[in-house]
Parts: sequence; structure tokens; C-alpha cells
Amino acid sequence: MNAGGLFLTLEGIDGAGKSSHLDALQALFEGQGRAVTRTREPGGTPLAETLRTLILEQPMDPLTESLLVFAARRDHIAQVIEPALARGDVVLCDRFTDATFAYQGGGRGFDTEVLSTLERWAQAGRGGQSEVALLQPHITLWFDLAPEIAAQRLAGARVPDKFEAQPVEFFRKVAQGYADRAAADAARFVRIDAGQSRDQVWQQVEAALVARGLAGEGRA
Ligand code: TYD
Repeated sequence: MNAGGLFLTLEGIDGAGKSSHLDALQALFEGQGRAVTRTREPGGTPLAETLRTLILEQPMDPLTESLLVFAARRDHIAQVIEPALARGDVVLCDRFTDATFAYQGGGRGFDTEVLSTLERWAQAGRGGQSEVALLQPHITLWFDLAPEIAAQRLAGARVPDKFEAQPVEFFRKVAQGYADRAAADAARFVRIDAGQSRDQVWQQVEAALVARGLAGEGRA
């Protein structure tokens, strides 16, 4: 990977409001003169977007779901993420592998050992440093919100997809999946309190970037 490439992901349960900060993040980095590749998972390539439709609309068992999510991810990494990082872009990705551990692992109760194996298959040797290094985000903004509040925010907002239609108990398990994943990689995760106002949430995002030398005086 090019030393200048930055891989930033946004995570959180449905209704946590992460996607509403993508425009501002893009503007912040472009204001620094950086090229930004903005993308999402599942998706980001024609093949992966086709798989996304299946994943979000079709009922399927958790292993099938996990295999499709990682198939989409593999294509996305090879076609979009790696080339962008190699060019030195900022890659802003709405969800990545942490979502698989949270939704398929936490929400659906699927075996996280199997997910770790799939993660190694899809992401190994793609970290740039060595054969075994896994491609991982440099920083993950985790928008943490109580599932009950997220459910209220989502109610009536739009036609729910397969996951959004799940009961609040499902999202409690997804939230726990995110918490477990964050605890296992505390240096990468930034927990954002998504229960605050939109402006306050953005201030937390900016502060996290400043703290890591990615924004603020001398940068923007
Ligand atoms: P989301 O990113 O919230 O997009 P939108 O705002 O258009 O609804 O929707 C993607 C859904 O896919 C979300 O419910 C989480 C789920 N998902 C998984 O279950 N596993 C994964 O690995 C990923 C990336 C997403």
C-alpha cells in the first residue's frame, strides 16, 4: 500500500446516522487536497452491488450470507480499495468487515471463528507489509447508539430491508458484536456517541481526526 493511502471505515447499527457524515468527511479531506474514493459494503463494484441486492433482499442461512458478503468484499478490495490506496487516496468506506462480525456474528449468531477464516482468505497478503498482513482500515469510526433509539429513528423513515426489519433484540446482539470487535482492536476503533445531536456527533468525528493528526491546524 502507498504510505499516503488512508483507509477509513464507518460502522454502527442501522439508524445510528453514520452515513449522514460522509459528505462532510469527503469535504474535509478534499479540503486538504486529498483525492477521496467514497464507497460502501456490501457493494462498491458492479458484481458486489449485485451481491448486495441478494444479501439485503433474499432470506438465506448465515453461512451463505457470510460467503456472499466476503465474495463481494474480495471483489471490492481487488477492484476498488487496493488500487485507491495504492494511488494514495483517502478511501471512505461505509461499512467493512466489522459489520460482518457484528451482523452475521453477533446478530445472526454465526461462528466468528469461521468469519475470521474468511477474513484471512479475503484480506490476507493485502496489508502491504508482509505475506500475512491483513488489509484492515487504519481508522474505524464506530457510531454507537442504543438499539431502542436507533429503532425509533428508523421507524417509518423508509421501506426496511432484510436487516432493518429485524426486532430490537437483533440489534442488541449486533451492538454487542461491534463492542467485542472494538475491544479486540481498540487502537483502530474510535467510539462516537451517536446519541448526541448531529452537530455534536460531527464535532466528535472531527476531534478524533485531529487527535490522529488527520485534520485540524496544519492539515486542513
Ligand atoms: P447500510 O450500510 O445501512 O446501507 P443503507 O443505509 O442503504 O441501508 O445497509 C447495509 C446492511 O447490510 C446493513 O443492515 C448491515 C448489513 N451488512 C451485513 O449484514 N454484513 C456486512 O458485512 C455488511 C458490510 C453489511
